[in-house]
Amino acid sequence: MSKSTPRGRKARSLLLAAALGVSFLGHAQSNYQPSQSNLEARKAFRDHGFGIFLHWGLYSTFAQGEWYMTVANINHAEYAKAAAGFYPSRFDADAWVKAIKASGAGYLTITSRHHDSFSLWDTKQSDYNMVRATPFRRDVLRELHDACRRHGLGFHIYYSLLDWSREDYYPLGRTGRGTGRTKHGQWSSYDAFMKAQLTELVRDYDADAIWLDGEWDHDQNPSFDWGFPALYSLIHQLKPSCLIGNNHHGTPHAGEDFQMFERDVPGANTAGLSGQAISKLPLETCQTMNGMWGYKIADQNYKSDTTLIRLLVSTAGRDANLLLNIGPEPSGALPALALDRLSKIGAWMQRYGATVRGVRAGLLPPQEWGVTTQRGKTLYLHILDWSSRLLSLPLTTPVKRVLSYDTQRPIRYQQSRDGLTLSFDQAPSTANAVDYIVQVELR
Ligand code: GLC
Repeated sequence: MSKSTPRGRKARSLLLAAALGVSFLGHAQSNYQPSQSNLEARKAFRDHGFGIFLHWGLYSTFAQGEWYMTVANINHAEYAKAAAGFYPSRFDADAWVKAIKASGAGYLTITSRHHDSFSLWDTKQSDYNMVRATPFRRDVLRELHDACRRHGLGFHIYYSLLDWSREDYYPLGRTGRGTGRTKHGQWSSYDAFMKAQLTELVRDYDADAIWLDGEWDHDQNPSFDWGFPALYSLIHQLKPSCLIGNNHHGTPHAGEDFQMFERDVPGANTAGLSGQAISKLPLETCQTMNGMWGYKIADQNYKSDTTLIRLLVSTAGRDANLLLNIGPEPSGALPALALDRLSKIGAWMQRYGATVRGVRAGLLPPQEWGVTTQRGKTLYLHILDWSSRLLSLPLTTPVKRVLSYDTQRPIRYQQSRDGLTLSFDQAPSTANAVDYIVQVELR
């Protein structure tokens, strides 16, 4: 590992702290031992394989994505006035949850409060929320929670660490510098606010997972201390099984229960946000359906269903969940293209879901032709890109039989000490355009 990686830097600062005999305040929930219920929740989380991310809040009303406030340097007091016009007449928690469930996803992750500071629930910590600041007056987080419980979907909650509106989010980070905050309040007040809000989310809204975001806002201020040990132990004390993930783009801090990757599968770094070492925790990759997280009216550039299904398969083959994002419209409707993708993924999942859900990465690492997943002694080869009748794999574990997953008909094979060679009647990529699945029964 190169010396300049975040992990290398962290290791060096830990060594330095130890050498100087100082206590390291860093980012760890010291001596964290996940409870039995937490370990079970991690397993259930991995078994889901697939979840849907929902970015929805006051920012949706501007239809310019969730970063609009800071990108356009909107004064926070002016921005807040939009709440008086936020009346999502088409919001229907059951409709959202049913569409998500039908896609084959096992959980959803909803932005309870994003960087703009607006809260989607009736928080006692601020009137700047869906119930008290909008004419809608409905607690949409409560409605979503109840719908998730009714339909058996996991309920995960995104929570922004950083804030572009509050004066007590001070020192300011590298974003939100142009939103008009001049009176600088105390960090201790902001910290107490976050803890009180997270208490509500975990205790009163029974979050199955908390998805934190924004640590990177202070990445130019390395001495900044977020106080994660106290935050994490608060969450775990309130609900030991609640999974904590933090989108800091690094290797996990102690006290976290899953590791996340933004816009890339684990191990890849095409978006410039990843490349961190992969931990032993459950993994999750989040990705957008179009280009933006929050609703952006000009962005109709949705990935095709084939691309999205292949992304799900590629993620599963790297032992990770896919958290696929939708930015609902200001009216509360899910965009028609998002609904279309959900139903097409759902149709595929009905037929092939068992090869990406409740599985782990297969014993072969990603190959040039695709990936493998595995349940017990059944190995699934997901052939995504191959155009020849013969396929050789470095698989030396003895094989009992090889079948086409679709037809359950045998595929001819030869196994030697070097590996396994399959011979198809027809090259697999033409046989199935999305994902040609081969079922290999191991001895
Ligand atoms: C980034 C963005 C944020 C978004 C998140 C989702 O952190 O800043 O807006 O919510 O990614 O992964």
